[in-house]
Amino acid sequence: MATQIVRPARTLQGSLLLPGDKSISHRYAMLAGLAEGTTRLSNFSTGADPHSSLACMAALGAKVEDKGTHIEVTGTGGQFHQPTVALDCGNSGSTMRMLSGLIAPHPHTFTLIGDHSLTLRPMERIRKPLSAMGAKMDLVEGHAPITIHGGPLKAIDFETPIPSAQVKTAVLFAGFQAEGTTSLAESIRTRDHSEHALRAFGATLTRKDDRLFIAGGQKLTAIEATVPGDLSSAAFFLCAALLFPDANLILDSLGMNPTRSALLDVVTLLGGKIRVLNVEEKHGELMGTIQVNTGAPVTKGQLEISGALTAQLIDELPVLAAIAPYTQHGILIRDAKELRVKESDRIDLVARNLRAMGATFTEHEDGLDIPGGQKLHGATIDSGSDHRIAMAFAIAALRAEGETEIDGAEAAGISFPEFFSHLKELCGN
Ligand code: S3P
Repeated sequence: MATQIVRPARTLQGSLLLPGDKSISHRYAMLAGLAEGTTRLSNFSTGADPHSSLACMAALGAKVEDKGTHIEVTGTGGQFHQPTVALDCGNSGSTMRMLSGLIAPHPHTFTLIGDHSLTLRPMERIRKPLSAMGAKMDLVEGHAPITIHGGPLKAIDFETPIPSAQVKTAVLFAGFQAEGTTSLAESIRTRDHSEHALRAFGATLTRKDDRLFIAGGQKLTAIEATVPGDLSSAAFFLCAALLFPDANLILDSLGMNPTRSALLDVVTLLGGKIRVLNVEEKHGELMGTIQVNTGAPVTKGQLEISGALTAQLIDELPVLAAIAPYTQHGILIRDAKELRVKESDRIDLVARNLRAMGATFTEHEDGLDIPGGQKLHGATIDSGSDHRIAMAFAIAALRAEGETEIDGAEAAGISFPEFFSHLKELCGN
């Protein structure tokens, strides 16, 4: 297990081009694997997770050429092949859940496997809608390995019981290949990359009020695209900027999809001054350059993250919790029970690591209540092999007294292999 030492820093200055967004990379990889023609993708995520999706596409018969961050995928023209190996989703819940919907309409037998963490994560949430569409799926007590006996599916009308873009995507990815028109309404609106990606690849998708409609029997065509920089990876440095009064950070080609950008509002409330220097749109996704400096917090009391905001910030909550003790008024996180079934139990791991650094807070079943104005000390951090925990506490370490040792730091490679080298460049420690 790799250990990284992070020392306290004096400031954070510089500019970054972030690796391609993980969520968008997964979707482009999967749809490209099924489409007709060759998809050319620039700034594809360097994280291990989207590469699990690419490897699955290769196992399903797509031709994948990996030229660093430039990826070419020649799709199977609408028909996946019978794989000769299990589809290995690695650590990636996105791969396992979204891929299940994409492959279920194909007349083959598929086995989906993952690493220890993925095997502990709930999969019943995709089995329910997909089996309502007629898919035959075997789970092991609600978990992977998953066996799918694929075949023709029929449309359903579905309401997502929990906010999950992965579950929504599994239904949409099955829906455009099913018989009839599938409709879907979300309890809380989640990231809409799948809707944009499906349209980019030529599918028709409509929205009426809060309900999405997707007709079956649709074919996809290859695209050329640049994947916007990953805002959830940028989150670590955006939160780090809040820790230094003279921080100056420029983030180039950053994804700013409105269903993902709640973090920019939260950073502003906590005292970040964000200027958008330019913005453009491609395939429905916004991408631009932002500059971040530090000012005074806008909030006059503790910042509360709950309800729909929790769902929008789900991947950024670990780093927000990790910097919360340093903020002026602290942060209250509620309605975040989902964090307990991510790559790790993120509430428990954040709590254990905050405690190790000497923070005072209250743990709830669905969140954390963290007062501000605290001083932390360096400690040994357990990443729990969870990428976002490793990176969140590397950020907390920047303002701690003494050095911090991050055990299991290599987990950062799941979404952001360049994280520790960027941290050094920006903070000079
Ligand atoms: C993702 C959706 C979220 C998020 C995950 C990526 C996606 O998961 O936590 O990192 O790309 O759709 P859920 O769908 O489980 O909320």
